[in-house]
Amino acid sequence: MNRREFARLLAIGGAAPFVSPKVAWARPVDLPPTPPSPDEKFWTAVRDQFVMPKDLAILNAANLCPSSGPVLETMYRLTKDMDQDPSFDNRAKLGDGRENTRKLLAEFLRVTPEEIIITRNTSESNNLVSTGIDLKPGDEVLLTADNHPSNHVAWQEKAKRYGFTVKDVPVPNPHPGFEHYVDAFKKMITPQTKVISFTHLTSTVGDLFPAKEICRLARERGILTLVDGAQTFGLLELDLADMQPDFYSGSAHKWPCGPKENGVLYINKTAQSKIWASIFSAYPGRVGVSRTFEGFGQRDEPAMMAFGEALTFQTKIGRAHIEKRSRELTQALMAGLKKIDGVKIWTSPDPARSVAVLSFQPGNLDVRKLSLALYQKDRIGCATRGGQDRPGIRLSPHFYNTMADVDRTVAAIKKYMSTGV
Ligand SMILES: Cc1ncc(COP(=O)(O)O)c(C=O)c1O
Repeated sequence: MNRREFARLLAIGGAAPFVSPKVAWARPVDLPPTPPSPDEKFWTAVRDQFVMPKDLAILNAANLCPSSGPVLETMYRLTKDMDQDPSFDNRAKLGDGRENTRKLLAEFLRVTPEEIIITRNTSESNNLVSTGIDLKPGDEVLLTADNHPSNHVAWQEKAKRYGFTVKDVPVPNPHPGFEHYVDAFKKMITPQTKVISFTHLTSTVGDLFPAKEICRLARERGILTLVDGAQTFGLLELDLADMQPDFYSGSAHKWPCGPKENGVLYINKTAQSKIWASIFSAYPGRVGVSRTFEGFGQRDEPAMMAFGEALTFQTKIGRAHIEKRSRELTQALMAGLKKIDGVKIWTSPDPARSVAVLSFQPGNLDVRKLSLALYQKDRIGCATRGGQDRPGIRLSPHFYNTMADVDRTVAAIKKYMSTGV
């Protein structure tokens, strides 16, 4: 923005302009090409693409990730363009941009654009499924016991209304392995089971579920599957064509580092005739299932396009590299925490059973006080879990974290474990 434009904005906005030079972020230098074996120097360059201050280590990707500079720029540039000229004529190009994001989502998930709905978040995606499938008294829905409310309370509440039954497959700790869960589902399936819904990677203690195997088991029995991918979309190098769920949900603002209030619902073409759309309004998508399922009224198209930019950003770095990096950071955290007396780790160390969500109980320390001290004194962001069921601190590092963040976090926890908080 030049000075004249800024003065004009000031004149319009009075004393509180929407954008001031003080809040504008510095444009990051271009990211270098990813080397075949990315080293700490490369990941530090990735970190520099984010506007978080350098001394801040946020290990909370399972909750909310920052958007990178390129994503922020896309959102700002397009929002400004729209607000400078909100005519239908000027906004026509935004429809093309939204369809481009759909294509990018399809490539990212290795499916077709005709199977993609751009929603507001995982919560909405999950609820579109639990509301959209015809279920009646006598029908059963099988859930894993460790789901987010949008995939648990949602089913329980709809069961009250429509009269179907919900059953939970127990989730023991430590993670008992993939075979355990395949067997557990096999045992609990009955001729009345119509839907199986589970979280791919749990947000509680980071248990990875055998999504492909459970989806196969269900498909062979004519049972529909909803895989809640809030914790794997943008983290694992996913291939839904291989996993073959009927429905898969995710949020842009978590691991993909996209804008807030954007999400995805994948509806397998074979399942599209088995679900009703719940919301009808203007401005649906242009292809496939989005023509009937994505008419949510006016949307924030600049944010939808920035969602596409976030996927492009990850693809440019390399999704396999991102998954590997997040795993390495988690394994390093786990190795450090294991050496601290009194720490009980809830998450499986086996990379086949966990990815990048790590949860532990810090002895008798009050987790809220610990988390506050970590944030206020050490500039480390994490999540807490209270109550009696696997309480503790959750760390979820992502590709914008560095090994220095890991070392600093382990050292701080070690310090508080010996001095108290
Ligand atoms: C497993 C799981 N499902 C769904 C959600 C809901 O995500 P959102 O708030 O983006 O809708 C979360 C959020 O943490 C989650 O961890």
